Amino acid sequence: MVIKNIDTKLVIAKFAVNGYNVHPDAISMIVNSGLSVDELVDEVCKRCNGSFIITPEEVSKVLDELKKRTFGKKDKGSEKQEILEKKDVRVLKDVTGKSTCRGTVEDFVVYFNSRFEKISKILSGRLNPVPVSSLTKIKADTVDVVGFIDNIREINENRATFEIEDKTGKARVYADGKVKEEVMELFGDEIIGVSGRLRGRSIYADRIVFPDVPVNGERKIKKDFSIVFISDTHFGSKTFLDESWERFLKWINCESGDERLLKLAESVKYVFVAGDIVDGIGVYPEQEKELRIMDIYQQYEFAAEQFDRIRKDIRIVMCPGNHDAVRQAEPQPSLPSEFSSMFSNNVMHVGNPSYIDVEGVTILLYHGRSLDDVISRISRLNYEKPHEAMIELLRRRHLAPLYGERSPIAPEKDDYLVIDRIPDVIQSGHVHTYGSGFYRGIFLVNSSTWQSQTEFQKKVNLNPTPGNVAVYQPGGNVYRLKFYGS
Ligand SMILES: [Fe+2]
Repeated sequence: MVIKNIDTKLVIAKFAVNGYNVHPDAISMIVNSGLSVDELVDEVCKRCNGSFIITPEEVSKVLDELKKRTFGKKDKGSEKQEILEKKDVRVLKDVTGKSTCRGTVEDFVVYFNSRFEKISKILSGRLNPVPVSSLTKIKADTVDVVGFIDNIREINENRATFEIEDKTGKARVYADGKVKEEVMELFGDEIIGVSGRLRGRSIYADRIVFPDVPVNGERKIKKDFSIVFISDTHFGSKTFLDESWERFLKWINCESGDERLLKLAESVKYVFVAGDIVDGIGVYPEQEKELRIMDIYQQYEFAAEQFDRIRKDIRIVMCPGNHDAVRQAEPQPSLPSEFSSMFSNNVMHVGNPSYIDVEGVTILLYHGRSLDDVISRISRLNYEKPHEAMIELLRRRHLAPLYGERSPIAPEKDDYLVIDRIPDVIQSGHVHTYGSGFYRGIFLVNSSTWQSQTEFQKKVNLNPTPGNVAVYQPGGNVYRLKFYGS
């Protein structure tokens, strides 16, 4: 009885997080279905676009379909995951199977505490922070503090101010000249350090200290294999670029290309896919007009067929994106088994984000939804160079540093979005433009898309650079291959 009550509250909370109320009979149907509450609620939310109250009829329709689809189908997902994990690919960190959040206010308190603990620990190694509440008692002329920042305001051309808050209190900070310019690129909500002169309870900042990755963090791991980075395949969309995809398949399967390209293809041992595997259903207004495949299951069946065409000695690791059939809030778990089981045995499904180790090379795989937020907030950044926006995530040691904008966050007890390990590679996608580079020894890549410009992207003035593939040789070269256009 107690368990049923907990499940009932869980169902109500999960629908509330997604913006829905739910009829009591619909709740009973979900609780008594014997299926995963998480997956079922996600599925109902995806299919009842525009409803205000989830009705028993809507739940019944989804249940019938799920049962039909999964009847008699062996759950190959976990079995396959185990086989792959025993080999050379290891998941170091991923929310999949560990999600506990229900979206309550208490969950958010615990979540932001986790973020504060992790990032302030990084900063404490570089500063000697004092508690903000002690500022009135301190005799020293200079101080260091660490905290969340808020209320950033430009006072005049040369001066800005903001508030910094730790667990003990709040203080005002003033910044002039070059420090002011740095302050004007802060988002608010991020955790930073301030080193400055103490005047009463206010601090006049000499230095803004980001948690950032270490300067000498370069790791020269030399390997004799290559890793291919792609993303945003959007199978099911009318704008999917069949011809470019075919050219990519021919190359990676060593069926076309000059001697140099064939040699490069032969060296590929892993393919990483940073989400938006399919185009999805109801992701943006009037999306149905742009879909070639109108059914989400058929979209994944088609996606699985396409990845199945990649030669089988290559391991494929993929995470979901905001178009995929999992919860939208990050961190996103991996695709549920009803979809992941459609893929071949050489495909490993992980969450978004995930840390993956391949033969000693650490890869941070992240779909990249927060890049929209970062690019819109810092005027020197743009979609033509998405890797420069990725640097801002590394500097803040957080994959979604802007809370309450376009990147919804699920308040897990542990903040999976903190960059608490230094990766060798960080891969993202989402913005559909290609960009790559190195930052403090870390290879950054945003791996474009396999979809041409959609009507929606035209409206928001997004010009994709599709069919671009990064081939990375750990400790060696990086190649950019173009399969779109001549
Ligand atoms: Fe996408």
